[in-house]
Amino acid sequence: MKREIHIVGNWKMNQTMHEISNFFVEMSKMKMELKCKAWIAPQALHIPILKEIAFTTGSIQVGAQNCCEQDAGAFTGEISPLALADMGVEFVIIGHSERRTIYKESNELLNKKVLKALSHGLKVIYCVGETLEEREADLTLKVLAEQMSLGLKNLPEDKAANLLIAYEPVWAIGTGKTATAEQAEEAHAFIRSQLTTHAERTVILYGGSVKPDNIDSLLVKENIDGALVGGASLKAQDFRALCGSASVIRK
Ligand code: PGA
Repeated sequence: MKREIHIVGNWKMNQTMHEISNFFVEMSKMKMELKCKAWIAPQALHIPILKEIAFTTGSIQVGAQNCCEQDAGAFTGEISPLALADMGVEFVIIGHSERRTIYKESNELLNKKVLKALSHGLKVIYCVGETLEEREADLTLKVLAEQMSLGLKNLPEDKAANLLIAYEPVWAIGTGKTATAEQAEEAHAFIRSQLTTHAERTVILYGGSVKPDNIDSLLVKENIDGALVGGASLKAQDFRALCGSASVIRK
């Protein structure tokens, strides 16, 4: 089953307007035909400006890093999934480990966010991954199974095509320690086995210290369909190099 490779930049709470404009100036200097999906999730505040730039460059889709489980109302500081869809935002990342750990978002809450975002036609990148303690206690597959079954409970079959999964071992995020390609492939194959619908067609991204010099070894694996990239997505040259690798790897 052929799945399109996705390179997704998660800019987290980074980038000023000056840095954003430099990023796109640099990107435009590096002419190359993209044969993968290139997505970027900036801070919510920057979504409109990125959408405008992306519209003129034509090759990058823009998404959000989080959204609320409600559409509207008295939820000060939250990001409405209805408003995201209304603005033509392409995708939303849900359940990133920083949301799970710093903001204590549970699988149950994330399930509500996933269903709500999908109901508005947004694509969802649902993140799962174990901590170092869980890996060392041999709990990786148990944790992944729980995050998959609770977070994706009641997933409507007709929305499954809009779901992507990101496997991000927490110990590999921002640490410079990447999972080996074999560790990642084992987790990806397991995650695919947990999908109750659309399993062979679902894109599963790897995330955690992905860089231009380690992406090739990951993308050649059968169940790794792209990357969710933090640090390396902030620099145009690295982001372009990641997209370049993804464009030459054929699945
Ligand atoms: P990193 O972040 O590439 O900086 O490790 C990945 C992520 O948090 O999505």
